[in-house]
Amino acid sequence: MEKFSSIFFLVFLLVFSESAVPTAGESLIKRNAKPCQRLMLHLHDIFQEGINNTFPNATSASVTEGVPGFGPFLFGKLYVFDNPVTGDENMNSPPAARARGFYLYDRKDTPNTLFLITLSFNSSEYKGTMTMLGNNEHGAETRDIPIVGGTGDFFMARGIATLETEVLDFVKSYFRVRMDIKLYECY
Ligand SMILES: *[C@@H]1O[C@H](CO)[C@@H](O)[C@H](O)[C@H]1NC(C)=O
Ligand SMILES: *[C@@H]1O[C@H](CO)[C@@H](O)[C@H](O)[C@H]1NC(C)=O
Ligand SMILES: *[C@@H]1O[C@H](CO)[C@@H](O)[C@H](O)[C@H]1NC(C)=O
Repeated sequence: MEKFSSIFFLVFLLVFSESAVPTAGESLIKRNAKPCQRLMLHLHDIFQEGINNTFPNATSASVTEGVPGFGPFLFGKLYVFDNPVTGDENMNSPPAARARGFYLYDRKDTPNTLFLITLSFNSSEYKGTMTMLGNNEHGAETRDIPIVGGTGDFFMARGIATLETEVLDFVKSYFRVRMDIKLYECY
């Protein structure tokens, strides 16, 4: 009987002390969380329609068309990109990184894409990659995309990138997006 009650007490202690330690989830949802690292970058995209090389300066191309009958928001259209990323707004500034990945139009009722970007850094400042994956409702003024991981200088990075379209020019077939990258886990 005494053995039983001491085991019970031990279990009680374990459960109690574990619940007193905040979990990672609890600490991350704090509204006032401060980033451990912050980067402000600009992504440049010159888009072309179709896969033929009709646009020698293009950095992205559509590889599928929107599905007929699914409305005006290009549902099903996929673009692949290999875009320069700079520290300032000038596309021809020394590159800070390359952004490679795709975006897929995936909503029938509003302009919206699923965005997958791997930023590859190979500069004197940073070496490594950072991967973002999430929903990009690009009609909105700003969008938050989760940063789901990284390598090298961004080993196991996690955070949020706030995207804002700065330029959208259909004559030059060009858009520029500001990426305010805030990491909340740094190692
Ligand atoms: C690419 O160009 C070739 C040759 O001009 C043409 O036959 C083909 O239909 C084009 N493909 C696309 C997707 O535009
Ligand atoms: C990074 O840059 C260096 C120096 O320019 C180059 O030798 C190396 O191949 C690059 N690495 C990658 C992964 O692009
Ligand atoms: C890309 O090239 C096309 C055709 O040469 C040109 O009209 C367009 O302005 C260029 N876009 C940019 C952003 O330089």
